[in-house]
Amino acid sequence: MSTPTAATAIRWERGDDGIVTLVLDDPAQSANTMNAAFIASLTAVADRLEAERDSVRGVVITSAKKTFFAGGDLKDMIKIGPGDAQRAYDTSMEVKRGLRRIETLGRPVVAAINGAALGGGFEIALACHHRVALDAPGSRIGCPEVTLGLLPAGGGVARTVRLLGVADALLTVLLEGRQYAPRRALEAGLVHEVADSPEDMLAKARAFIDAHPESRQPWDVKGYKIPGGTPAHPKFAAELPAYPANLRKQLGGAPYPAPRNILAAAVEGAQVDFETAQIIEARYFVDLVTGQTAKNMIQAFFFDLQAVNSGASRPDGIAPRQVRKVGVLGAGMMGAGIAYSCAKAGIDVVLKDVSAEAAAKGKAYSEGLLAKALAKGRTTEVQRDELLARITPTADPGDLAGCDAVIEAVFEDPALKHKVFQEIEGIVAPDAVLCSNTSTLPITLLAEGVQRPGDFIGLHFFSPVDKMPLVEIIKGERTGDEALARAFDLVRQIRKTPIVVNDSRGFFTSRVISHFMNEGVALVGEGVEPASVEQAAAQAGYPAKVLALMDELTLTLPRKIREETRRAVEEAGGTWRPHPADAVIDRMVDEFGRPGRSGGAGFYTYDEATGRRAGLWPGLREHFTKPDVAVPFEDMKERMLFSEALDTVRLLEEGVLTSVADANIGSILGIGFPGWTGGVLQYINGYEGGLPGFVARARELQTRYGDRFAPPELLLDKASKGETFTD
Ligand code: NAI
Repeated sequence: MSTPTAATAIRWERGDDGIVTLVLDDPAQSANTMNAAFIASLTAVADRLEAERDSVRGVVITSAKKTFFAGGDLKDMIKIGPGDAQRAYDTSMEVKRGLRRIETLGRPVVAAINGAALGGGFEIALACHHRVALDAPGSRIGCPEVTLGLLPAGGGVARTVRLLGVADALLTVLLEGRQYAPRRALEAGLVHEVADSPEDMLAKARAFIDAHPESRQPWDVKGYKIPGGTPAHPKFAAELPAYPANLRKQLGGAPYPAPRNILAAAVEGAQVDFETAQIIEARYFVDLVTGQTAKNMIQAFFFDLQAVNSGASRPDGIAPRQVRKVGVLGAGMMGAGIAYSCAKAGIDVVLKDVSAEAAAKGKAYSEGLLAKALAKGRTTEVQRDELLARITPTADPGDLAGCDAVIEAVFEDPALKHKVFQEIEGIVAPDAVLCSNTSTLPITLLAEGVQRPGDFIGLHFFSPVDKMPLVEIIKGERTGDEALARAFDLVRQIRKTPIVVNDSRGFFTSRVISHFMNEGVALVGEGVEPASVEQAAAQAGYPAKVLALMDELTLTLPRKIREETRRAVEEAGGTWRPHPADAVIDRMVDEFGRPGRSGGAGFYTYDEATGRRAGLWPGLREHFTKPDVAVPFEDMKERMLFSEALDTVRLLEEGVLTSVADANIGSILGIGFPGWTGGVLQYINGYEGGLPGFVARARELQTRYGDRFAPPELLLDKASKGETFTD
């Protein structure tokens, strides 16, 4: 029996047993979101439930879609400006009121969570007295709003705090935004039961209704105490000051407003009654949703990421293909990691090195990772054995017979790379895609060494491969569309995010990150206290300290790249402009013998026994730091951010980059550009005053620090036309 309500995003189905099933099923969308239709339906449903209360025995909320409920409507949210604060507040309160009316109906309400319930979806479930989650593969439950610069504003803060206690709610659910598989959600106390099948789920829902004719939330029972005590409790009050301090430490001073607002909403909301807590939550939400950071993060982590992963940069009209057997040439640090990632995705791997021992050592890397995963309960012995069985270490090129893809990761030497491809070209499948993981060599040059340059492409992984989510795909001049499509599909098959760029020195990622490091080093050369330089990088939101990163990379590498670039520029008749960082790097290497971490000494000192970073080298202050130097802290941060953003615009001008989404995602996932910016080009879009504001500030930096901050033509052009960087 099905009667449509006034608005139709929620279907009302009433059984003969007096149980009303509210089916979330927005006919206009593939997933349910908290849009206007939903909100109107929610109010209509609450009206009807109240009107028919006497004949309703209980309520089950479930969904007809694959996911239970997708959450807030991000297309709408990203448009909410500072002028829309009142409207955003009213909408948030309307959702809360609707859920609250159902929660306080005096009838048992059960969430039958048939698929992912993240953000708004989990908040609907939280308003129910009982939550049964179907153990569907890939299903996730939680409040990931913080990862989009927001907070759960459908009562999610108020209810998780009351359900779990302030500390637990904050630490995992709200501040980390962790997404739980159904069984983990059960362990964490987020759901009450897990069901093995849809029938089991509904049976459990009904059983709860039968057993609890008049359900109430624990927090609506008189005398309810928040687990772990309220912030007013002396013990809690003593711990409270540590919260903001820990948060600051966690964020490194980076400008993420959401965690601060979540903390405030949770702590303030725990000291008042439920209704007031909801108002507090709405106010902190409005502050976030009308601000720039949430827009940046929604753009990057939702829209851009979706565009990139769904194949916006993949050529059209080429049927997707799965790789079954991949040959990995070179079982060193990168080859070993690539082999692991491929095997993990179910691909058979032939891991080839110069000797059987070297190849076996590469496989041992996977064994090590799996031993750790097993110890942490993240894999099973069966899964471990299956994965390891997929990796065949060898020194014999003949074992690559039948490989439909090859990924080369031998030493960074063009002659060697040519040689290893020649060795296997006649052995692998005749149409195998040929990929190189080179970090600096031109793909077009490497392609000259193979018989099928159209099938040759760059596949630039990041270290450590098993952790880093990005792969930069590099098209050489002769790379064909088929090879690009297959490389793209391979990256998706191993569950990583691909960005696509055209061939150029340093590609996109290596070239852009070098500007960040150079600015840090240049500041040392200008006499700035080295600890302040590291502090500036952290406060700008970079995940790594800039001088520490330079040490990791080794100072001799940028020197080598610099020399090659200089030669190339001069051969092409151009003028080579040294960077102020060059002189510092030269002195560090030549005068002080400190080439970086692998050489045992760099900007930092390293513990001889453990190799661990011990502290900044005191000699830096002695040789470089000047007492009277006064580079404003804001300039230090923005020099790092601007130098990367400006060169990204140049890369767009040069046609190396062709997609804004690829640039934004590549910068965050590949080279640690701060997430709060939404990526390197969104940073320009979202800068105060928009593109004209960014141009004005670039000119200011140019005047103070040199022509490397001169705004490129493309930026000036877009600024004058009132445009932004979009695809
Ligand atoms: P590595 O030195 O750890 O490994 C290179 C491996 O290649 C060694 O195991 C060596 O025995 C093997 N090899 C040498 N000649 C061979 C041959 N004829 N046949 C088969 N194997 C042979 O080097 P790493 O760091 O793994 O780098 C490999 C490639 O990946 C380089 O092109 C590098 O530029 C690139 N890359 C490195 C990154 C890094 O962070 N280390 C990041 C991205 C790319």
